[in-house]
Amino acid sequence: MYLGPDDEKIFNGEEGEIREKMIKLLVNLGEIYGADKLIPIGSAQVSGISYKSIGDPGMEFLEDVADKGAKVRVLTYINPAGMDLENWRELGFSEDFAVHQMRIIDAFRRMGMVITATCTPYLSGNVPRFREHVAWAESSAISFINSVIGARTNREGGPSALAASIIGKTPNYGLHLEENRRAEVVVDVERELKESDWGALGYLVGKMVKNKIPYFRGIKNARVDELKALGAAMAASGAVALYHVEGITPEAHLQSIDGLERITVTDSDLEKAYETLNTGKEPDIVIFGCPHASIEEINTVAKAVEGKRLKKPLWICTSRAMKEVANRMGYTQTIEKAGGKIVADTCMVVSPIEELGFKTTAVNSGKAACYLPGFCKQNVVFKSVDELIGMVVE
Ligand code: F3S
Repeated sequence: MYLGPDDEKIFNGEEGEIREKMIKLLVNLGEIYGADKLIPIGSAQVSGISYKSIGDPGMEFLEDVADKGAKVRVLTYINPAGMDLENWRELGFSEDFAVHQMRIIDAFRRMGMVITATCTPYLSGNVPRFREHVAWAESSAISFINSVIGARTNREGGPSALAASIIGKTPNYGLHLEENRRAEVVVDVERELKESDWGALGYLVGKMVKNKIPYFRGIKNARVDELKALGAAMAASGAVALYHVEGITPEAHLQSIDGLERITVTDSDLEKAYETLNTGKEPDIVIFGCPHASIEEINTVAKAVEGKRLKKPLWICTSRAMKEVANRMGYTQTIEKAGGKIVADTCMVVSPIEELGFKTTAVNSGKAACYLPGFCKQNVVFKSVDELIGMVVE
């Protein structure tokens, strides 16, 4: 792999131990995947933030990196943490968990990362441009920026995104190369999709195509929130990091689909996906916001619960920035009046909800429905916002 003179200096330890360690990690990765060089990135997004996921070893590693003076070279956001960084106590998180979580957050802050713990950085001030190279680590965010914005990132792991943020570069392979961004399988969608159908479709297609690049036909229109739900579910049930939607996503018109494998998704296929994902019946809690809710999604829930009283807890997970806007708009007050909460900085999967006494969680997200049984030992109720709210109003 070619290293320029500046990279060589870092590689030879002239800029300190941590930068040497980080560039070596990137070079090793590049050599495994056949990269020719390191390329500059515009931004990074680092995962592995929750104390639940990384535990003491991860926390101590990050503190060591911060203690040794590592600083990020590009705009870097962090993924959701294991709890709301402000209201953890009222939500029931333990003091012990909070102390450890805050040590992790402090390490990231000392490295110069922006402490807005979210999987939708593109809704909160970290938006790459078309064809910009970046190094992001959260699978739904990766899918969104590759597919909907047309930026370029591989599916980074926590350590490689951290290394990229500190060096400001990433190895040039995979989805950074035009030839690897081509559609590999055509998916004809026969149903007109509504709300949670996007997650159901994503779940189904991710399972079928695994890590291939799907090219969707038959989708006439799609809102940004719908595309984020679709991509998130495909990245969870499969390892889809890029998809194209005919007439909608920016690189779709560049694809040649002649001779590609074809899949058709019918009404009954989607109904079967709902059946598979619904493993529970009576929810103990309803949680929206996977990926983190946009202001429009928060407003939808606020309207749905306005003037009603909920008999079960309801959370909407989102970024701190969206919560601030929701406060200003009065959405938070409407939701709280009904008995729900807007929860920032975390989500139903990376927070220890199983330790808060919940056994069955209801979601409208295909990704959350896919992950909750394994990550949080939850039974799942997977339906649309209106159906779920209907289940929990008094
Ligand atoms: Fe985001 Fe958590 Fe879902 S990180 S995509 S809300 S599982």
